[in-house]
Amino acid sequence: MTDRTVLVTGGAGYIGSHTCVVLLEAGLRVIVLDNLDNSSLVALERVAELVPAAAERLVFVEGDLREPHDLDRAFGHAAGGARVEAVVALRGVEGGRRIGRGAVALLRQQRGRHAAAAVRDGTSRRA
Ligand SMILES: NC(=O)c1ccc[n+]([C@@H]2O[C@H](COP(=O)([O-])OP(=O)(O)OC[C@H]3O[C@@H](n4cnc5c(N)ncnc54)[C@H](O)[C@@H]3O)[C@@H](O)[C@H]2O)c1
Repeated sequence: MTDRTVLVTGGAGYIGSHTCVVLLEAGLRVIVLDNLDNSSLVALERVAELVPAAAERLVFVEGDLREPHDLDRAFGHAAGGARVEAVVALRGVEGGRRIGRGAVALLRQQRGRHAAAAVRDGTSRRA
């Protein structure tokens, strides 16, 4: 089984769940961190149905991407102590305000500890 792991924040959402399908089909392990604010686990159940052979490579962590403790828990699910190779940070919308640069900055801090690759926020051109 591959150790190559990608963390997808907001992975239970519309774009996130489609992203998970593509990553799983590519043979990667996927950790989803989502607080289910605007989604439900049904989306990830559908993901597992679409890529049944990869269901065991999909891990869900319920939590908030702005909380360091929740990020630690999510990064901790990388296989066998391997590092998370990349983070796909799909920003959510809460109370009409985007979850923006603060959360992305937090993810970048975590990169030094847990992740091998750059963190991109999906909308910014700056990595
Ligand atoms: N859907 C589109 O057509 C579209 C097009 C262009 C850009 N975008 C952008 O892509 C991003 C994702 O869009 P979407 O349509 O998938 O949205 P979505 O609401 O379906 O998904 C966002 C996910 O993030 C989760 N979430 C929200 N706050 C969180 C937090 N603090 N911690 C952890 N998880 C949290 C939600 O529960 C949800 O599952 C947004 O920034 C959106 O503006 C979307």
